[in-house]
Amino acid sequence: MKKVFQLKNGEKIILRHVSEADIEGIWHNFNEVVEEGIYLPVFFPVRSEYEKQSWYNHLLQEKELCVVAVLPEFKSPLNIIGQCEVSNLEWDAANHVGRLGIIIQQKYRDLGIGLHLIDLAIRESKKLNDKEKIILSCFSNNTRALSLYKKVGFKTVGIRKNQFFMDANYYDEVLMELWIDDYIHQHPDSNPK
Ligand SMILES: CC(C)(COP(=O)(O)OP(=O)(O)OC[C@H]1O[C@@H](n2cnc3c(N)ncnc32)[C@H](O)[C@@H]1OP(=O)(O)O)[C@@H](O)C(=O)NCCC(=O)NCCS
Repeated sequence: MKKVFQLKNGEKIILRHVSEADIEGIWHNFNEVVEEGIYLPVFFPVRSEYEKQSWYNHLLQEKELCVVAVLPEFKSPLNIIGQCEVSNLEWDAANHVGRLGIIIQQKYRDLGIGLHLIDLAIRESKKLNDKEKIILSCFSNNTRALSLYKKVGFKTVGIRKNQFFMDANYYDEVLMELWIDDYIHQHPDSNPK
């Protein structure tokens, strides 16, 4: 699966499934967001090669899904400008549910990549992993992420008050979900707007 997509700034990028060569780029993006310190409930960047490789091995072993946004003219690790993962839940009885996480490199935000990566991740999760529902969670002050999730069709199903404590402040966690068949019914072609 490979999809070419034109950004709002005219640049062309590729959306595709992750490969082993992308590991470094993916963790570079993750660590950048950790260092921004406002979007993820994580304090420390991941530097260990073992941990990075273990994430990828786990993804393959559990048949989890990760789609990446790639700048075709750049070499690894600079070519990976965003990623969207749909992981399995820990419960056997929740195999039909996937948990979505997404990160776009800071300088490539607000160009439409997030919307297109989520669209692809939703469709591929149904096609490859028989997922029926996608869930996610988000800090309540992450207005950009929340507006994107609402635009896609995610509904808020709960708020965990003061779930996170970072830099001497408490943050609420917003819990959202989306039924894949509803999404596909509303967006029959894969060109979300
Ligand atoms: C959240 C994130 C994944 C979205 O990806 P993206 O590629 O920037 O998203 P898109 O460009 O597809 O869409 C962003 C939308 O939010 C809008 N937006 C930007 N800032 C906003 C704000 N402060 N409040 C509300 N909407 C905002 C944009 O205008 C755009 O909407 P539009 O396309 O209708 O104009 C990305 O910005 C990111 O990685 N952020 C940091 C990490 C993060 O928050 N991850 C999610 C954790 S739950």
